[in-house]
Amino acid sequence: MAESTEVATRRWSAAALMGLLCVAGCGDSGGPDGTDTEAGSPEEDLRALLGLPDHFELPAIPDYNPLTAEKIALGRRLFYDRQLSANGTQSCADCHFQEFGFADGMKTPTGSTGTVLARNSMALANVAYNSSYTWASDNLVTLEDQIKVPLLSDNPVELGVTDGARDEVFARFEQDPEYAQLFQDAFPDDAAGVTTNKIVFALASFCRSLISGDSPYDRHVTGDKDALTEQQRLGLSLFNGERFECFHCHGGVLLTNAYHDANRTEPQLVFFNNGLYNVDGEGSYPTHDQGLYELTLNPAHRGLFRPPSLRNIAVTAPYMHDGSIATLREVVEHYVAGGRLLEDGPFAGDGRVSPLKSGLVRPFAATDEEIDAVVAFLEAMTDESFTTNSAHADPLD
Ligand code: HEC
Ligand code: HEC
Repeated sequence: MAESTEVATRRWSAAALMGLLCVAGCGDSGGPDGTDTEAGSPEEDLRALLGLPDHFELPAIPDYNPLTAEKIALGRRLFYDRQLSANGTQSCADCHFQEFGFADGMKTPTGSTGTVLARNSMALANVAYNSSYTWASDNLVTLEDQIKVPLLSDNPVELGVTDGARDEVFARFEQDPEYAQLFQDAFPDDAAGVTTNKIVFALASFCRSLISGDSPYDRHVTGDKDALTEQQRLGLSLFNGERFECFHCHGGVLLTNAYHDANRTEPQLVFFNNGLYNVDGEGSYPTHDQGLYELTLNPAHRGLFRPPSLRNIAVTAPYMHDGSIATLREVVEHYVAGGRLLEDGPFAGDGRVSPLKSGLVRPFAATDEEIDAVVAFLEAMTDESFTTNSAHADPLD
């Protein structure tokens, strides 16, 4: 991608992502004579553990947190447990609902102590493949680092397990015999009890297991000629065409260019300004959230956000980093117009003429039928076996 918006890598640690693939006790998968057991190669074991469809590549797993069924099980339990917040009122699942592809259906969520967050809760399908995490960050490149944010942050508070609250929260799990067993099974070689890293590693493992690859679109990709309606097939060709341009930023089987390509030595950190705001005529976004600029303070980075995956997109409304677009049809109309004109209100401005907008977002002619077709195609990304998969649901339900 020749766009200047592919931001140069900073603070990147190759070791963090390029880990060896090892499952259920690395190096342990050989038979008594050192040959592979019937369970197969480490790659096959990992595929089985994740339930990976054949048309998905293996995600990179950091070598310091090999994936195991036991960590996924502990992470799943923790993900749904409100005891993981300092005041016991909120769990990860209160902002990430399975039925909404692990988004939450709200514009922006509220943390456990009442702080309204600036950004829309993200969907979590296939996060194992992300090249970076959150809507706009070039330094959160592993799930392990990202998950510490909602867990530990004191500004804004999400779960609020801050230094002062940690001992009390950990004691809840240490005193619960069922949890003691789950921690023991997940970390059999470590006697230290409950620690931040164990919680984070288990949650990251559960998030990695959230694989979505069984939508009508996937069945189409893998050769089922009847998987998409005629209208959806038209939408797909428009999506992948040079007029609509969607595929340049939401391409590939994961429907985002911001994925970690294990064949590259550096992650693909990809961010774009898609013309949502232009409050000062110079391309600024509302000052409470200017995207990547918040971290880099580089004025050229105002409005840069990661192109999210469009998997399960029909169930993750509202859209964009601030939830400011309500429907998929309005999203497609936004692109047809080449950006968003806000005529009044505090953020008034014409995003269509923003100097910081990507050159791939520019007005083009489209009929109502074509817009409907692209929307119908986006609806073909809904993977019901993912949004109803009992392996991802609250284990206590
Ligand atoms: C109060 C609501 C809230 C809670 C609680 C919450 N999240 Fe989130 N989550 C968000 C929001 C909002 C974002 C986007 C943050 C950003 O862009 O700065 C997000 C982003 C993420 C991402 C990044 C996804 C991506 O594609 O980059 C992951 C992973 C995630 N959350 C997992 C978790 C886990 C695990 C927990 C529990 C420890 C949790 N979240 C708790 C609201 C929440
Ligand atoms: C230049 C790159 C680029 C192009 C081209 C592009 N997008 Fe996007 N898309 C983005 C970025 C970046 C975001 C997030 C912007 C934000 O939140 O501020 C986004 C967000 C979205 C969202 C909302 C996702 C969510 O989870 O809220 C949808 C839906 C979407 N785009 C669909 C499309 C469609 C359909 C097309 C083609 C008509 C398209 N995009 C073209 C970069 C692009």
